[in-house]
Amino acid sequence: MTELLDLYLCETCGNIIQVMHSSYGELVCCNKPMKKLIPQTITQEESLKEKHVPVFNGSTIQVGSVIHPMNKEHHIEFIQIYSDDKKHTQTVFLSPEDTPKITSENNNYNHAVEYCNLHGLWLGDK
Ligand SMILES: [Fe+2]
Repeated sequence: MTELLDLYLCETCGNIIQVMHSSYGELVCCNKPMKKLIPQTITQEESLKEKHVPVFNGSTIQVGSVIHPMNKEHHIEFIQIYSDDKKHTQTVFLSPEDTPKITSENNNYNHAVEYCNLHGLWLGDK
């Protein structure tokens, strides 16, 4: 069973998709089951954690307490913030020349996920 806003990766072609309506079917791409992306919150490598976990600071959410690098080889592809009930979301898709931040005046956003092209999905809470 999928859940609203779950993210799935095709390990063959690299497609990443998001669930907008949950159901029981298996998600398949390139003739293989897609891999559910589980956000990381803890890692033994503290240096990885501090550059990936989204940090809330007023209306700005930044990727990393030490801001994540942004270059062609290693960058944040997107940041998504969402409310507790998942009824409201805001997403920004980033390019390597962008700063890995998202801004919102909506105080209902208590959770943020970001996707690093090398280190995967990370979750941070307000
Ligand atoms: Fe990274």
